[in-house]
Amino acid sequence: MAKKFLIINGPNLNLLGEREPEIYGTKTLGEIEAGIRKFAIEKNVEVDFFQSNFEGEIVEKIQKTRGVFDGIIINPAALSHTSFSIQDALKAVSIPAVEVHLSNIFSREKFRKNSITASACLGVISGLGWQGYIYAISALISD
Ligand code: DQA
Repeated sequence: MAKKFLIINGPNLNLLGEREPEIYGTKTLGEIEAGIRKFAIEKNVEVDFFQSNFEGEIVEKIQKTRGVFDGIIINPAALSHTSFSIQDALKAVSIPAVEVHLSNIFSREKFRKNSITASACLGVISGLGWQGYIYAISALISD
């Protein structure tokens, strides 16, 4: 059976394309999802997408991955730097997760350098643009 991955995007990522394009790139979230879908077809895996501006909705979505998804790719956006509830949810479901950031959070403002959610993930891909999502799927499907 094909492996199934959930790609979660947090607050303000629905504005990609128009939001600070010099930092986050010019692709819209829809275009990024289309690129991920194309890669998923090539690799014979299934992908599903979720974006929310609300922390609690993201926590609920993570809880519902149990028994449904084989992996989570998550860009918690600003919630990376604040959210213990997302960290706890990721730990609670014990499904392998990879955190993705479009920008290099380590080369930006001080408050972005720490990710609270990252400690609940296998690893972090930061600063490689939208293709970070592709690299994250690659990591989760490699043996
Ligand atoms: C981000 C980095 C975060 O610091 C920021 O709040 C975002 C996007 C990224 O993808 O580079 O919204 O997660």
